[in-house]
Amino acid sequence: MTTEEAWQAYLDVAARELTSDSGEAVSCFPHYAQDGRWVRLSVAARSSWDGDLYEHGNWTAGFWFGVRWLLAHGTGQQEAADVARVRLPLLAERASDTTTHDLGFLFYPSFALGHVLGAIGDDAAEPALAAARTLVRRFNPHGAYIQAFGEIGDPRGAGTSTIDTMMNLPLLWWAHKRTGDDVFAQVARAHALTSAHAFVREDDSTSHLDHFDPQTGALLSRGTFQGAGGDSCWSRGEAWAICGFAWAYAATGEPALLAAAERTAAYFWRHLPADGVVPWDFSDGSPDATRDASAAAIAALGALVLAHAHPDSGTRTGYAERAARLLGDLGAHALERNGREDGILLHSCYSKPHGLGVDGATAWGDFFFGLALALATGRITFDALR
Ligand code: GLY
Repeated sequence: MTTEEAWQAYLDVAARELTSDSGEAVSCFPHYAQDGRWVRLSVAARSSWDGDLYEHGNWTAGFWFGVRWLLAHGTGQQEAADVARVRLPLLAERASDTTTHDLGFLFYPSFALGHVLGAIGDDAAEPALAAARTLVRRFNPHGAYIQAFGEIGDPRGAGTSTIDTMMNLPLLWWAHKRTGDDVFAQVARAHALTSAHAFVREDDSTSHLDHFDPQTGALLSRGTFQGAGGDSCWSRGEAWAICGFAWAYAATGEPALLAAAERTAAYFWRHLPADGVVPWDFSDGSPDATRDASAAAIAALGALVLAHAHPDSGTRTGYAERAARLLGDLGAHALERNGREDGILLHSCYSKPHGLGVDGATAWGDFFFGLALALATGRITFDALR
C-alpha cells in the first residue's frame, strides 16, 4: 500500500470512529482495546500506587484529540475539530497534575498540536504551557533526569526514569519555541542526554525503566516495567527512543542525540519482520508472538524526523524510504478495514506482562500512525510541529 492510500484509509476509519464515539460518557476516553472494544478511562484518573505497583492513570486522553485534529486537517471536516474543542476543558484540569511524567502525552497531541494546526488559538492553548511548567518541576538536578512515576519526590518514584519520557519532551520543545523561556529547552536537553547514556545499551537496544539514586544522581539499575525482562528489548520502548532522540536532535543539534536515534533505529530495522508488525518484545521470537503495531508506527515517525533533520541528504532519503515502506506495510496488515473492531491501528499491545490490551487498537497507536502518515504524505511538515 502507498502512504497516500494508507492516509486516505486512515481518514476513512477516523471518520467512522468520530461517529461511533457519540453517546459515550464525555469524560471517558479510549485507552486501549480489549476483545475488539475500547476500554475507556476517565480523564480525571491520576497515577497511583497499589502497594509497590504503579498504576499510570489516564495518560492517553490527549491522543483522542490528536486523531480528531488530524481528521479535521486531512478532510477539512470541521465537525471533528468542533467535537475536540468542546472536550478540551476536561483535560485542562490535568495541567497541574504532579503525579506523572505523561503530561507530554496528555498535552502535546491535544493542546499543542491543536495550536500548531490552527484549530485553537493562543489563549486556548495556555493549559499546555501550564502542563509544561508542571513537567519541568519533575526534573531531578542531581541525576539530570525527569522523574517518571508518582508524586514529585515520593520515595517510591523519585529515582524512576523511563524511555517513554523521551516522547513527552515534544511538549517542552514546543513550550520553548512558543515562550522563548530557556528552562523548557534546558530541562529537555539535559534529560535527553542523560537518557542517551542511561538507556541505550552496547547492542543499540534499550532498557525501559531505570532507577537512579535521587540524592546522588547515580544510575543504580536498568530494567523494565512492560518488557519481557530486565535485559530484553521492549519494542515500543525502542520506538519511543528512536522518535524521542530524533526529535531531541532536531531541537538541539546535539551529536550524541543523533547517534542515539540512529543506533536505536538500526536495531529496530534489523529486527523488523516482513509485514512490519513487530513483536511486543524483540526477545519473543515465537511465530505466534503477540505483536505491537503501535511500536512500528512510532518508529516510522522517528524515521521521518530523521528524514527531516539528518545532516546528510542521502541518509535523509534512506530514512524517508524506510518510513514509507513501513507505513505502507502497517496500512496493509494492521489497519482496521471491516468495521468489526474499535480503533484504527489493530494488532497493538498495551502491556503483555500485565495482560492489558494484548491484540487490538490503542489510543497512541491510532494517533502516531496518523501523524506519521500526515508527515509522509506532506500534509504536515515537521517544522510546523515544533
Ligand atoms: N507508558 C507508555 C507506554 O505504555 O508506552
